[in-house]
Amino acid sequence: MNQGPIRNGHLNRGAPCHRAGALSKTGAEMPSFTFTSRPALTGTLRVPGDKSISHRALMFAGLAVGESRITGLLEGEDVLATAAAMRQLGADIVRGADGTWRVRGAGLGSLLEPRQALDMGNSGTSTRLMMGLLASHGLTATFTGDASLSGRPMNRVIDPLSRMGASFEASSGGTLPLMLRGASPAVPITYRLPVASAQVKSAVLLAGLNTPGITRVIEPVATRDHTERMLTGFGATLEIGEENGPNGPERVIAIHGEADLRPLDVVVPSDPSSAAFFIVAALLLPGSDLVIENVGLNATRAGIVTVLRQMGGDITELERREVGGEPVADLRVRHSALTGIDVDPAIVPSMVDEFPVLFVAAALAKGTTRTSGLDELRVKESDRLAAMASALTAAGAIVEEQEDGLIITGSDGEPLRGTANAKVKTHLDHRIAMAMAVAGLVSRDGVTVDDTAPIATSFPTFMQLLTGDAV
Ligand code: S3P
Repeated sequence: MNQGPIRNGHLNRGAPCHRAGALSKTGAEMPSFTFTSRPALTGTLRVPGDKSISHRALMFAGLAVGESRITGLLEGEDVLATAAAMRQLGADIVRGADGTWRVRGAGLGSLLEPRQALDMGNSGTSTRLMMGLLASHGLTATFTGDASLSGRPMNRVIDPLSRMGASFEASSGGTLPLMLRGASPAVPITYRLPVASAQVKSAVLLAGLNTPGITRVIEPVATRDHTERMLTGFGATLEIGEENGPNGPERVIAIHGEADLRPLDVVVPSDPSSAAFFIVAALLLPGSDLVIENVGLNATRAGIVTVLRQMGGDITELERREVGGEPVADLRVRHSALTGIDVDPAIVPSMVDEFPVLFVAAALAKGTTRTSGLDELRVKESDRLAAMASALTAAGAIVEEQEDGLIITGSDGEPLRGTANAKVKTHLDHRIAMAMAVAGLVSRDGVTVDDTAPIATSFPTFMQLLTGDAV
């Protein structure tokens, strides 16, 4: 029988895990780690703040005139890269001893030219949103990033921002390092998104903030709407409507330029993308009964909960409420026997970051799970279809890689074989590392992840929460 959740309790300590260091080609430390089976997850836990919302809170506060306060900010490396970049642009950003961040904005239109290259680390969101922001300011900036970010496509933002008047010198293939020259004044455009991407949408809207007139983005498929929600809170004028497109209704977002942003106090809910690792772990580990507090459940982000429920996952929402303009709830997750399904491609944008861990759930389900429409996964921090196909196969799962998805035949609850000491490659991708950590918990011989360092980009407390042991 399941144990009831223990309020204010701690997670059970995991079985011993092992770590070993190695050096990457550049000499940076690559801490590998073996994740092994562990007892049920019970009790209550809270995962850190939402990464998407944290980036936006720092950026928009950095544009407002006056002081904004942010609580619950994710203090992961990606968000810290955004904070560092906003400081270089003239925002005054301080973290208080109580964890509240205070931001005195530089003011829209008054950003400073950065003296050094903006180092975006591993963060695509920081890069693409910041490129939008700077595209309508009359300054020059250089963007750099790590090996993963330097391989990711930037033409998807370079194209619309060039139409608004900005110019770019990018590395071959439209990648970082790149130099941007902003336009002042920029030209408003109407842009129909060729890929379902909240980053591209946000880049154009942020450029539109400091552009005379009205800039419009047409979204054939709705993507996460944190930019729209939060910019409204900071005092920008946005109109959101619907128009008929070639394949049905499309979302149209119009932003009025030359806005005056006023400061706002932002409370950041917990990140559903981080919660997803614990949701799947609790569903898979027999006897688990876990409450994950304060999880953001914006409909444009909550697809993973819908899909796991369709597979038979017992996930209930306790105390649905609003935090910082976003719907949240505590999620109670109990161990469940999962069944494979065909995942509707229409749900992909609302769970685009959760597929790595969904694949782990599918590998333990009864029957076959088919996914499609996942082309975008190939251009995330890694090629997530290839990385997960190879990592799960190495751990003993039955996986067929297709052009735009994976087909996974599950083990019907039997533990995976595991990789023992053979290391699975995470390719500088935090979500591959965490998904394969979850796979390790439900394996016989453990799963060794080659490099756990990238986990700190989005979920710095992951290892402590999962193993009850500081890394
Ligand atoms: C994000 C949008 C998504 C997501 C990323 C965060 C955002 O990227 O994968 O982790 O905060 O806007 P795309 O817009 O490229 O789909």
